[in-house]
Amino acid sequence: MEHLVQKPFPDDFLWGAATAAYQVEGAFDEEGKGLSVQDAKNFSNPVHNTTVTSDHYHRFREDVALMKSLGLKSYRFSIAWTRIYPDGVTLNPQGIIFYNQLIDELLKQGIEPLVTLYHFDHPQALQQAWGGWYDDRMIDYFARFAQTCFNEFGDRVSYFMTLCESNNVVLYPDLIGGVPEGVAVEAWRFQVSRIMALANAKVITLCHEILPQAKIGPCIGYAVAYAATCAPQDVLAAMNEDEFRTFYPLDLLCLGRQNPTVVSFFAQRGLDIRLAEHERITLKNVRPDFIAFNYYQSDVAKYCPLASQETQPGFNADGQKGGFKYPHFPGLYAGDSNPYLQRNDWDWEIDPVGLRIACRKLYDRYQLPLMITENGLGACDSLIGGEINDVYRINYLQQHIAQMRLAISDGVPIWGYYPWSFMDVMSTSNGYHKRYGFVYIDRDDQQLKTLRRIKKASFYWYQQVISSNGKQLFNQESCK
Ligand code: BG6
Repeated sequence: MEHLVQKPFPDDFLWGAATAAYQVEGAFDEEGKGLSVQDAKNFSNPVHNTTVTSDHYHRFREDVALMKSLGLKSYRFSIAWTRIYPDGVTLNPQGIIFYNQLIDELLKQGIEPLVTLYHFDHPQALQQAWGGWYDDRMIDYFARFAQTCFNEFGDRVSYFMTLCESNNVVLYPDLIGGVPEGVAVEAWRFQVSRIMALANAKVITLCHEILPQAKIGPCIGYAVAYAATCAPQDVLAAMNEDEFRTFYPLDLLCLGRQNPTVVSFFAQRGLDIRLAEHERITLKNVRPDFIAFNYYQSDVAKYCPLASQETQPGFNADGQKGGFKYPHFPGLYAGDSNPYLQRNDWDWEIDPVGLRIACRKLYDRYQLPLMITENGLGACDSLIGGEINDVYRINYLQQHIAQMRLAISDGVPIWGYYPWSFMDVMSTSNGYHKRYGFVYIDRDDQQLKTLRRIKKASFYWYQQVISSNGKQLFNQESCK
C-alpha cells in the first residue's frame, strides 16, 4: 500500500538505543559478580572476553552523559543476573547498588530506562548444576531474580523486557551454554521454548501484581521468511520457517497456544511436545503489554525434501562475504540468498522493507503494540584522523526508520525504536571486529588501547533524527 499522507511519529515516541550487560559492562568478577555462561564462554580469547569489553561498568556516568548529548529519550540495557544473584541463589547487594546508580543517572538526564531482564547471561552455577534452561527449576530461579528487580528498581523503571530472543537462542544453542550431552538438539529446543515460555508467563504475572503501572513484554528476533520463488512448495517452505522459527515460540509467549503443524512434525519424530493442561492454562492467562522484536535482516526459504542432508544454521565468523552456511531442515525448509538485496560483510541481507513487513505480520497476528528493540548494521569501522565516517550505517538506519514510519502509517502501533547499539560493544559472534555503535570505543580484539569514546558521524545524524522527532531523516546537511 502506498500512502497519500504519512503519519508523523507520536510525540512520546521512544527514540532509544540498546546494549546488553555482558557485551558492554566488563568487570565480570567485580564487586561480588558471579560467573555467567557468557563469561565462561568468552574466556577462550585473551582480550576479546568479558573482563573489560567497553568498560561501561566503570564509565557509566560518562556514557550516560553521551546519551544525553545524543538526545536519547530511552536507553535499553540488560541487568546482569550474576551481579544480583552471583550463583542464582545468594543476593549480592553491590549489584543492586550499581543498577540503582545507573537508573538514577539516566533519570537525572531525562532518559527512560528499558530493562532487559535476561540477555543470554544466566549464572554458570545454574548451567553446571541443571544444564541451564533445559531444566524446569530455571523458572523459579528466574522469577526470584525478576522479582528482586521489580522490588528494587520498579519505583523508577516503567518498561521491562523478559527474555531476549528466546526463539533465536533455541536455534543457536551455543549462545546460552549448549545442549547437555546425550540430548537431541530438537528435544532440547522444544524443552527450552517451553521452559522459557513458562518463565516469561510467571515473570509477567509477577510484574503485573507488583507494578501494575509498568509495561512488560517478551522479545524475539524476527527475520521474515520470503519464498525463494512463487512455486507453491517454496511458499510452503517460507511458511514453515516463519511458523517453526518465530510464530511457534511467540504464540506460546503471547497467546498460550501451540502451533498444530509444529506439534504434528515432532509427533511423527517420536517427540510429544503437547503441553500439560495446567501449563496451557498458565500461558493462556498471561497477556504481555507489548512485543519487543529485534530486526536485522530477512531470510529466504526454499523447498527442502525429506531425503536431503540436514545442516544446522551457522555463522559467518570472519566477515568475509560468502562465508555464511545456509541451514537445511529436511521436510521443512532450506535457507538461500536473496538476489534482490545487498548484504553486509557477514552476509546479513539488508532489507528495510522487511522491517515494515515484520511489523505488519506481528501486529496482525498478535494485536499488541510493538517495540523495535534492536536494528543496526555490523561493520568494520575505521578511525581516520580522529573521525569515523560511518555513512553506510546512516544509510542503513535511515532506510529502516523510513520503513518504520510507513508501518506506523499502515496502522501499526510502535512505541519505540532502539538501534543496536548505543556504543560499540563486544559482538556476540565477532568481538570488536564487527561494530554497531553510534559511539566508537578505542580498542580492538588484540589490544585494549585507551577505551576512549569517540562520536561517529552516525551519532550526529541520529541526534538530528531525535531532535526533529524523525522529520530530519534524510537531511545529510544536518550531519557533521
Ligand atoms: C542480537 C543480540 O541478536 O544480535 C545481540 O541480541 C547481538 O546481543 C546482535 O550483539 C548482533 O549480533 P552479532 O553477532 O553481530 O553481535
